[in-house]
Amino acid sequence: MQALIDRDYCLRHPVRIIRLFGPDVYLGMLLDPGKTLLERVVEKYQAHAVAAPGAIGNAYKCSALFEFRVARIYEAMARRFADHVEAAALFQQLSEEEMEHGRIMLTCLFQVTAGPNLAYMPSVRDPEVRDALRKLRDIAKRVPEMTLDEALETTADLERGEVNIIFGRLLGQVDRAQLALFVEHLSGAQSHSESVPRRIEALKAQRAAA
Ligand SMILES: [Fe+2]
Ligand SMILES: [Fe+2]
Repeated sequence: MQALIDRDYCLRHPVRIIRLFGPDVYLGMLLDPGKTLLERVVEKYQAHAVAAPGAIGNAYKCSALFEFRVARIYEAMARRFADHVEAAALFQQLSEEEMEHGRIMLTCLFQVTAGPNLAYMPSVRDPEVRDALRKLRDIAKRVPEMTLDEALETTADLERGEVNIIFGRLLGQVDRAQLALFVEHLSGAQSHSESVPRRIEALKAQRAAA
């Protein structure tokens, strides 16, 4: 399973967390286990920091919107297959991870500054972004009628698609220490394009064996 950055991680790396996000964020993690690090960081930025303006800001907001929409789709799948414990658990985990991806894009929104590396700025006016949004709307409508095989197929397809490409490119062009922690956690086998196909296969093998 993909590791969310939770209280345990923060307690094991106090110096790093305090240096990157401040003692208030660390104390929050210490005293109240109910939130992930990203939830706290986004709350802090939304209260005290200034979001990147114009086209840059819109690009990161656009990707956050995509991630939150995908999170809602997986949440709906978890409900649709509530009587299949393992499948529901996988969709629920994926939903929580997509929420974290959305929060990573919101963290970028407050960290990113214009510079020579910042060349990629997708917009809701781009035809491929519009297409991707339409596709997500269509999937969301179909979830209640899906079989489990169709839902797993759709999941694999989603993770190969535009949403992950946009997220990866936007994350890749932010060069800030605060983001490096999350980039580390999402690299290699932890990334959804790598891990989700594996997790789907594991679920299918489990079903076949049952
Ligand atoms: Fe994602
Ligand atoms: Fe994903």
